[in-house]
Amino acid sequence: MSSNDTPIKKNTDDGFLDVTLRPSTWDDYIGQGHIKENLRILLDAAKERGHTAEHILFYGPPGLGKTTLAHLIAKETGRNIKVTSGPAIERVGDLASILTNLTPGDILFVDEIHRLNKMIEEVLYPAMEGGTLDIIIGKGPSARTIQLELPPFTLIAATTRISLLSSPLRSRFSGGTFRLEYYTPEEIERIIARSAKILDVTLDGEAHKEIAMRSRRTPRTANYFLKRVRDYAQVHKTEAGTDAAKKALALLGVDEFGLTQTDRLLLEALIEKFGGGPVGVKTLAAATSEEEGTIEDVIEPYLIQIGFLERTPRGRVATQRAHDHLGFEWKEPKE
Ligand code: ADE
Repeated sequence: MSSNDTPIKKNTDDGFLDVTLRPSTWDDYIGQGHIKENLRILLDAAKERGHTAEHILFYGPPGLGKTTLAHLIAKETGRNIKVTSGPAIERVGDLASILTNLTPGDILFVDEIHRLNKMIEEVLYPAMEGGTLDIIIGKGPSARTIQLELPPFTLIAATTRISLLSSPLRSRFSGGTFRLEYYTPEEIERIIARSAKILDVTLDGEAHKEIAMRSRRTPRTANYFLKRVRDYAQVHKTEAGTDAAKKALALLGVDEFGLTQTDRLLLEALIEKFGGGPVGVKTLAAATSEEEGTIEDVIEPYLIQIGFLERTPRGRVATQRAHDHLGFEWKEPKE
């Protein structure tokens, strides 16, 4: 690629803004109090001993700040961070190249680690445990293994699907496995206020509350909605106030509970086609043309969080709250 067609990110686009909004100190990072406390102890103790911190795993629904935390750890500990993802590491050679190019003390962040293929996972075990890389050279009887010594590093991995991680892999995150929780509405309001300040957006009236209540208790969504409200107010030459927030977010198809069209379709299918459940996730996936994984990891967690959906041993059930919200008559589920 010539220097002319290098895709340089201009500092005006939304990708740049996402980086700008990323908190760079522990104090800037709002919410997830118990994770922050545990991480600070882990990292301070490692620093005092002069060691590289042990490997850390973050899991939880998308947008709650797993990547943000990894970058924050790098910033606060003054380490370099190299970023990759499970699906990007296609061959053992890719992993070998990443690991051998680390400098001592680096952080390696692997997003979507559940999508790492099994052969690569096996190469990762000794690298995580003993800091060695075992590479097989050649094939058949003449094949031999060479062992490379790796620089000490901290692996920080993130996944939305902890259940897909093998137990040997899980057990190697000796620094800890942390589940990110949904934020409280107050925390989301604080995140919006902080982001608005950075973006130089003046939110009037109850705008921050209107954005917060639709943000699915998720910082990524809150920041995205804030930017859309800013755009709406700019184009309509109006203040970013309560009215602009309501209209901008209604245009995006988000209701007062933060439900999107996809959420509503799923609940409506569950209620109209299956009498509110219980119904298995496979059946629900077929009825809505959504992938099972997307239903389980992206759509359902928030619906469960706000009490619209329950996962029971016999399948998914739409609650009375969901019926009321969508205007359906509620009947007790069948025994
Ligand atoms: N932006 C995204 N997540 C955040 C958080 N937890 N605190 C502050 N700003 C954020």
